[in-house]
Amino acid sequence: MLPFLPSVKCPACDVSHTPLAGQLKNGVYAGSCQNCGYFFKFRAVEDTADTVTFSVNGAQYTVGNEFDPATSLNEWLRSQQVSTGTKQMCLEGGCGVCLVSVQLYEPVSGTKQVYTVNSCLVQLYMCDGWEVTTIEGLGNPADGLHPVQQRLVDYNGSQCGFCSPGQVMNMYGFLQRNPKPTKQQVEDNFDATICRCTGYRPILDAMKSFAVDTIPSQHGGPLDIEDLNPKVCKTTNKPCRRRCRPKTKDDANTGPSGSVPLHIVGERAQWLKPTTLQALCALLKQYGGANYRLVFGNTGYGVYKELGPWMYDILIDIRGVQDFYRMETSPSVVVGANLSLTNLREMFERHASDPSTVTYFPDFARHVKQVASNSVRNLACWAGNLMLKHTHPDFVSDVFTLFETVGAQLNIVDGEGKESSVNLTDFLTTDLKGKVVVSAILPTFSTDDVYIRTFRVAQRLQLSHGYVVAGFNFQLDKNDNFRVKVKPSIVFQGINATTNHATTTEDFLTGKQLGDPAILQEALTTLGQEMKPSSEPILASPEYRQNLACSLFYKFVLNTCADKCQKRYQSGGTGLYRPVSSAVQTFDSRKEEWPLNQPMTKLDAAYQVCGEARYVDDLPLEQTELYATFVISTKGNAKLASMDPSAALAMSGVYKFIQASDIPTGGTNSFTAPTGGIKPEEFLCSGQVLYAGQPLAIIVAADPQTAETAASMVKVTYADGQRPLSDMKEAIKQKSFFPGVLAPRVVGDPDQAIAQSARRITGTIECGLQAHFHLETQNGRCAPDDDGGMHVQCTTQDIGVTAQVVARILNIPQSAVTVEVKRLGGAFGAKNLRNGMATGACALAAHIMRRPIRLCMNFHTNLKSVGKRHPYYAQYEIGFTEEGKLNGVSVTAYANCGSSPNENLMGAVFDNIDNAYHCENWRVTPIAVKTNTACNASCRGPGSLPTHFITESMMDHVAKTLGKDPSDVRKVNLYTKGQVTPGGKRLDYCNIAALVSQLEASSGFQVRKQQVALFNQANRWKKRGISMIPVRYGIGLGSHYNVFVAIYGSDGTIAIDHGGIEMGQGVNTKVAQVCAYELGVPMSLIRVKKSSSTTNANSSGSNSSHTSELTAMGVIECCKTLKSRMDPIRLQMDKPSWTQLVSECYKKGVDLSATAYTVATSSSGSGYNVYAAIVTEAEVDILTGQSQILRSDLLYDCGESLNPELDIGQIEGGFMMGLGYHLTEKVKFDPTTGEVLTDGTWEYTPPMPKNLPINFRVTLLKNAPNPVGVLRSKTAGEPPLMLSSSAVFAIKQAVEAARAEIGQDVFFTLNSPVFAEDIQAACMVKPSQFTFGQ
Ligand SMILES: Cc1cc2nc3c(=O)[nH]c(=O)nc-3n(C[C@H](O)[C@H](O)[C@H](O)COP(=O)(O)OP(=O)(O)OC[C@H]3O[C@@H](n4cnc5c(N)ncnc54)[C@H](O)[C@@H]3O)c2cc1C
Ligand code: FES
Ligand code: FES
Repeated sequence: MLPFLPSVKCPACDVSHTPLAGQLKNGVYAGSCQNCGYFFKFRAVEDTADTVTFSVNGAQYTVGNEFDPATSLNEWLRSQQVSTGTKQMCLEGGCGVCLVSVQLYEPVSGTKQVYTVNSCLVQLYMCDGWEVTTIEGLGNPADGLHPVQQRLVDYNGSQCGFCSPGQVMNMYGFLQRNPKPTKQQVEDNFDATICRCTGYRPILDAMKSFAVDTIPSQHGGPLDIEDLNPKVCKTTNKPCRRRCRPKTKDDANTGPSGSVPLHIVGERAQWLKPTTLQALCALLKQYGGANYRLVFGNTGYGVYKELGPWMYDILIDIRGVQDFYRMETSPSVVVGANLSLTNLREMFERHASDPSTVTYFPDFARHVKQVASNSVRNLACWAGNLMLKHTHPDFVSDVFTLFETVGAQLNIVDGEGKESSVNLTDFLTTDLKGKVVVSAILPTFSTDDVYIRTFRVAQRLQLSHGYVVAGFNFQLDKNDNFRVKVKPSIVFQGINATTNHATTTEDFLTGKQLGDPAILQEALTTLGQEMKPSSEPILASPEYRQNLACSLFYKFVLNTCADKCQKRYQSGGTGLYRPVSSAVQTFDSRKEEWPLNQPMTKLDAAYQVCGEARYVDDLPLEQTELYATFVISTKGNAKLASMDPSAALAMSGVYKFIQASDIPTGGTNSFTAPTGGIKPEEFLCSGQVLYAGQPLAIIVAADPQTAETAASMVKVTYADGQRPLSDMKEAIKQKSFFPGVLAPRVVGDPDQAIAQSARRITGTIECGLQAHFHLETQNGRCAPDDDGGMHVQCTTQDIGVTAQVVARILNIPQSAVTVEVKRLGGAFGAKNLRNGMATGACALAAHIMRRPIRLCMNFHTNLKSVGKRHPYYAQYEIGFTEEGKLNGVSVTAYANCGSSPNENLMGAVFDNIDNAYHCENWRVTPIAVKTNTACNASCRGPGSLPTHFITESMMDHVAKTLGKDPSDVRKVNLYTKGQVTPGGKRLDYCNIAALVSQLEASSGFQVRKQQVALFNQANRWKKRGISMIPVRYGIGLGSHYNVFVAIYGSDGTIAIDHGGIEMGQGVNTKVAQVCAYELGVPMSLIRVKKSSSTTNANSSGSNSSHTSELTAMGVIECCKTLKSRMDPIRLQMDKPSWTQLVSECYKKGVDLSATAYTVATSSSGSGYNVYAAIVTEAEVDILTGQSQILRSDLLYDCGESLNPELDIGQIEGGFMMGLGYHLTEKVKFDPTTGEVLTDGTWEYTPPMPKNLPINFRVTLLKNAPNPVGVLRSKTAGEPPLMLSSSAVFAIKQAVEAARAEIGQDVFFTLNSPVFAEDIQAACMVKPSQFTFGQ
């Protein structure tokens, strides 16, 4: 260990090195520069270490400069195979798959504290002295699951399983800090982890079962503290108390963890960690002019990529500076710069209940809880947040809002140790190079006439930055009509880069009476005029943000001057109240048939929740394995002129640059297989760039980070650049269509039917794109065989197509390719054809390099390069009776296919346009629109989800035209048995009308409609709506799956291989249940293996909801064959046990394995219909446009469900994915380049737990065997998505109630997705309406 900071820059030649020196005095050293010989003095700071030591799951690790200082904990855990259960996806703190818990010394409390953190944001060298626990440290099926893991299994909270380790770690870390939480606290804590599969209900139920106020029916109950760490100690054989964990460096040093100064000199950059302010100042002085960055939580990089630690030569970790942890609340509030947002929240909360304390603490505590997620807040310091605002003035900073609202002062220190104090406005313009924020002083207000409130409105209730964040600080004389005593503070974020205060409005209001309606109006006009929001495609519209600024001010006034308001106005002063959610699931199960029909969790669940279930990127690396990544286009419509990879190839660790011309002779540059009219799509652009994000080339490198950096260094030039066409409406205007995709379908005589109808309407409706957002990205791992073939492990939903694609690219026979899939971390249709892009490229790289290659698309590339759910635009004309019965419907449905018509699925328009409604006369004209966007892809309920929304919008339009309740119009049109769909299918089995009336009764629909009306009368600025939506969804059973069942002669156990893909839907569990039922054996004997293009050759893709049924059909066939072979032996035996029978058959040479290839039978060939209905009630905050779902009652005909637990999981998850489509997700493109702007978790926001209906009731229809389904069952994969439109129509009714207040209750179109800004605009909210109602 060196006695001083080893690297010092020579003042003469500027070379940094470590001079050998002798000490003079007071820490001053002198020495000669090793480069130029110049003799100079420098100040030594402290002894430093050049390694960090930490533990993971009790094992100690010491790392030094063999890793780059930019290495994240996640990268290290995964690359060193220490924890592959810790997943990675977004690498920006926005998905939570990477959560770990860490125990570290926390100077605020002077104790060791456990926190859940995002390992993708934590830098490896931050971990000095930390005790890290990963999912592997909790439990596993062999040694026993941890209670949190077990509950997630028991509650069926793991579908694809990719998010499950993160969900477990989130709860584990939380329980460590709060072992006796309430349900509300648990639910609040689930703000860090996205799950695309489950819809969260089972995850929340599992976790809320630990709450002290959990209901008795919620099995489990709170844990004793010792059960939280129940691992058995190898030494004592008793539950581990962590007393004999390996000693860390900090145990050796008496100081707190991580208190040793560090200096790690890497090849590329240095990591420095001072532990005193003095040492930090010395570093600031030394490196103030260098390319340096301070690091606390490193979460800033999650927001701004230029803060990525690899961008800096010097990284200075300030976590060790003890002076920065001040926390004082009296006589003034002083907070040190190193207080995390969690520290702040806890401080605000701790003091909130004390009436003598600072009045704004409760409001601030509530506010901070909404910033980022608990795991980010655990890492992030407030000073870092302010610094983001400092460097990016347009950053919507919640901390800035809070601190500036109360007029905080910041203390700043420079390299000389000189202190200065600035207010926040001046801070923004202060040069902070070589300086550090030390602390902030927050004023206290001793009088009770100070009113401080803050508000934030965001795209999503959790883990979402604000559209607009506002803070108000007014000193008012209540007795003088709320006269504003001194200049108030009105702070806004999210307007533009320079507006932080509404200064003109502040001036105007000074001395005025806020309770005077005329003053209020004048203030609103002034505010509206001075709010000039910037306009950028990625942001909410300027009009909305301007309106929101006025609405939030009005909210503050309603809240503060509540006495002045009419009662029905008062609820406008608060946001939407969301109590803890609850849910009920009701279903029947015939025990006599178990394990068929048995509600049971997934077979793999225990392996998924403990991180042992492997996904492609978790496979152990072979010694020679390399990584590949794509170079993608940044222009959407141009010619690829040239690519210069020289800079990339010059990087150490970069092996190869591969482009289209490297495809072997005879190979095909396409990742699609030419079946069923599918057209070729290049996986490496050969000249014409069709969309921004298109793969142009491949970089092969030693590790993923090097590959990504190198890919970004390839210089690409374009020629003939044209403005890309990414907007569907513009494309329609330009008639940019794919010709001949599908001819119109005419049934009856729609023109005449419409013309002769009593009532006629025309209209349009639109719905958007949806990213699949599977948490495991598109991945491939390919290794050349020793016989000229290729072994492929990848994330395809279609092993057959992927094998064909690889064979065609490499120009080798398909039999030379083996594609294997064990499980997928979600797919939702994106991994059907689109996986060929990643796997095909990976196979090419492996072929060229003659080494195993892994190509795991980074999350951002995945969002940019892969198409999404097709957006639709429809024009319609409808003729109907006075009663609302449909006579004739003519619809032209445009679907934006992107750059290729592959996967257009426009046939779904024909199949779904009628939904559950009978009409004799139809014209349906599908038009495939061509744009410069990635070819859009199947997405759970492809075509059907948008079509369903179009139909329901038409029904809504009919109802409004007639002044009827939409549910009445829907009901008069419901199909009855024997009627024929426009697709020509006779409904021999149709129970939709009965199902709807059952649901109406069970949900109390009619009574609740009246309650909603009463609520709307009583509230001016909050409105509710309630909708009922029926669904008919046709299921075809035409796919083929190759199934193989083997019984092992030695022990009677059974293995199943099938061509379906397990991606969370539970196909493996269902086939095992069916096999156990058919053979009469326990489930424990059965294993389901991976799917392989060799053993399961010629299988169809796993799509269209029917994989589980059809593979089950194959299993039944196999079992029949096996039984027919075994029965003669059985008859010769006296009631043999299973193992005796199997053993005897084996001895007698009976073939104990069988295959089947599923072919639809005549009865099942035409498929069947799923029927379902839902009642949804929603509430809208009219002033902000925010909405929430109060309650959904869902009744679903699943036939005789093969497994009600899994099917309900599918129903809830599908419903939530649909909710995301309609309410929280929007894809945006850069109009100039065509690039996807919503390519990260910061802007693209799938639903989170608080998007769930507050009360969610799911019932499976009883006594409803499906006459043509496999074992009388029906599917639950895609139809539930359709039910999500009920949220839009409930919200629409609430909007109608708001419009009725201003005499505007006429029909309007509400396109999907319905964001807060769309709702607020539809409500026609204007500041001129903002009165006290008196
Ligand atoms: C997923 C996610 C969601 C988020 N959501 C929100 C949100 O809703 N609202 C919101 O306001 N913010 C949000 N943030 C931003 C977050 O609050 C900040 O990233 C965080 O506070 C930065 O703190 P840090 O400790 O991680 O800073 P770091 O990332 O370590 O540093 C950030 C910057 O601050 C500088 N810095 C750090 N400390 C000091 C200091 N004491 N003196 C001088 N410079 C310093 C660093 O040099 C660096 O330039 C979100 C972040 C993420 C990742
Ligand atoms: S990978 Fe860390 S939060 Fe997404
Ligand atoms: S189970 Fe949560 S993402 Fe699949």
